[in-house]
Amino acid sequence: MRVILLGPPGSGKGTQAKLLGQRFAMTHISTGDILRESIRQGTPLGKEAQGYMDSGRLVPDALVNDIIAERFGRPDRPGSFLMDGYPRTLNQAEAFDGVLRRAGLKLDVVLALQAPDWEIIRRISGRRICLKDQTPYHILYNPPKTPDVCDLCGGPLSQRDDDRAETVTSRLKQYHATLGGMLAFYERQHLLREVNGLGTIPEVFAACVEQLEH
Ligand code: AP5
Repeated sequence: MRVILLGPPGSGKGTQAKLLGQRFAMTHISTGDILRESIRQGTPLGKEAQGYMDSGRLVPDALVNDIIAERFGRPDRPGSFLMDGYPRTLNQAEAFDGVLRRAGLKLDVVLALQAPDWEIIRRISGRRICLKDQTPYHILYNPPKTPDVCDLCGGPLSQRDDDRAETVTSRLKQYHATLGGMLAFYERQHLLREVNGLGTIPEVFAACVEQLEH
């Protein structure tokens, strides 16, 4: 299955992407995870992206489009995938269309998670992520079994640099400004399905599964 998961920052894309990837055997591709890993490793890509990410701005389209084009241009490109955080602008959606066409792949569904800003702020302010495998947790809604330790790999948990209140406001503004064009693009292709992102993690997961199975 080939799926794009859209949604505001902190709406639960990463959380659901991990669960849905396992359920439907899809490769989880997160541009946020790729960029954060590049920053940690100090690569040229990471150095270029860091300033944008720290201030809550989008990394330039050309940079992320190149990451994705490279990933799908390789012989071991995934045939079944779930995109998390890409595309994010109309330019990226159009570029991804071209990448898929060249790879001979077709999208099945674009899932759009809906969540109001007040819930986003609650979720992001309590988020902790694993520094090793980037699994997201929440200190109240989804705590790890042992405080500050990842259930899956035992790695240390930490708050993300871009989860400060002022950066979150800027990320939300950015999201609302770029969303419309992209939604219209996928609506025209009859790929768009909306999912209510409010509710517990299992409830939102069940709603996503229902959309993907029908
Ligand atoms: P990215 O990492 O993609 O961040 P984002 O889109 O802002 O989304 P988040 O990772 O913040 O949240 P999420 O929706 O995955 O929520 P999560 O599951 O963690 O991008 C970061 C930055 O990289 C961008 O700002 C930009 O600079 C750059 N970037 C990345 N891609 C780019 C692109 N394509 N173009 C340009 N720039 C790009 O959940 C959040 C919290 O809520 C967690 O604590 C979780 O445990 C909890 N939670 C989840 N679901 C629930 C629930 N149902 N109930 C209660 N709590 C829940």
